[in-house]
Amino acid sequence: MGKVSTTPRTRVVAAGRPHEPNSPVNPPVEFTSTYHYRPSVEYPQVYAREGIPSFEPLEQLLAELEGGQHALLFSSGQAAISAVIQQLPVGSHLVMPRHAYMGFCTLAQQMADKGLIVLHRVDIAETEAVLSTVAEASAQAEAAGAQSLLWIESPTNPMLEVADVPRLVQGAQAAGTLTAVDNTFATPLRQNPLSHGADVVIHSVTKFLSGHSDVVMGAAITSDPELHTQLHGHRNLHGTIPGPMEVFLALRGVRTLAVRLDAAERSAGVLAQRLAELTEDGACSVRSVGYPGLADHPQHQRAAQLLGGFGAIITVDTGSREAADAVLERLQVWTPATSLGGVESLVERRRRHPGEPETVPEGLLRLSVGIEDTEDLYQDLAQALRAAGS
Ligand SMILES: Cc1ncc(COP(=O)(O)O)c(C=O)c1O
Repeated sequence: MGKVSTTPRTRVVAAGRPHEPNSPVNPPVEFTSTYHYRPSVEYPQVYAREGIPSFEPLEQLLAELEGGQHALLFSSGQAAISAVIQQLPVGSHLVMPRHAYMGFCTLAQQMADKGLIVLHRVDIAETEAVLSTVAEASAQAEAAGAQSLLWIESPTNPMLEVADVPRLVQGAQAAGTLTAVDNTFATPLRQNPLSHGADVVIHSVTKFLSGHSDVVMGAAITSDPELHTQLHGHRNLHGTIPGPMEVFLALRGVRTLAVRLDAAERSAGVLAQRLAELTEDGACSVRSVGYPGLADHPQHQRAAQLLGGFGAIITVDTGSREAADAVLERLQVWTPATSLGGVESLVERRRRHPGEPETVPEGLLRLSVGIEDTEDLYQDLAQALRAAGS
């Protein structure tokens, strides 16, 4: 009997399940820190910090979804980021987006401040400029006997710039530069950077993958066995494993990723369009709307070509901190909170975080569209934007 080929929509439901006769439909979860042993026998399991069998179904699922050989779960997305960039030898050059997840930017800056790495900030949407910076970084790293790494986020958090991932990865490879992609915003259902040759993909599993804002977790996926071994060693020594309960919740959450993402993305497309129309309404505090699916987004064509969908994150620039805060005070259906990718719609003024770069406008709201009724979401936003504009 030949193997039936499946799409990622099926794999999120089917991967990582036991298949033996009379096995449970869901993999069992072990709550244990240690394992029995007898000196006369070699056992694979020793101590839970090294990883437990309960991690494997979700790791297998994420590896399959991203098209990688190996996946490792971490205690958070930030722990996965940290594990990857701490693999760089001292003196390495890191080319990074000027807008990227704040925790990544802060950690990179701290490492640079300690003299561990050299930073090169780029606009990740400007492919030629990025590649010329990569060439410089690569040459400088080589002269120093170190490495260079291009870090890509696409779309970026929170500015939603869209990178030409295939060309960047190809160009970096030609320059001898490693590539890491934070694929949290796109999800593996919309973009698979490993298929373009990226060395490693990281996720904040906290977001769309878990999807219910009840878990903090990360993952790193690679097809490079050496890098996988290094990251595993790092996770063990830094102790950044998730707990079994989180693994259970994340695996349960990811089963509905395809339907959640479809619903949220459909809503986001409608909301972005209708919010953009409010820029004409003088009574509303909407200066501009950012969404890769809008025709006026600077990388709209690229997003249409490279991403399997435009995502569920929208930005609204209200023009000022005061206007943005006034909107947040008036929302009833949307929840003002940080984070994204859950079933509930969240909205946040990003500059409330001191770590957010100054090039992110003070009045910018980042909207994470959930799966509530689209019209309810729109009416709530419209009333809050009108009240804030009056
Ligand atoms: C794009 C992106 N990457 C990584 C992270 C960090 O993930 P975590 O919060 O799970 O540590 C976040 C968190 O907001 C994020 O938005």
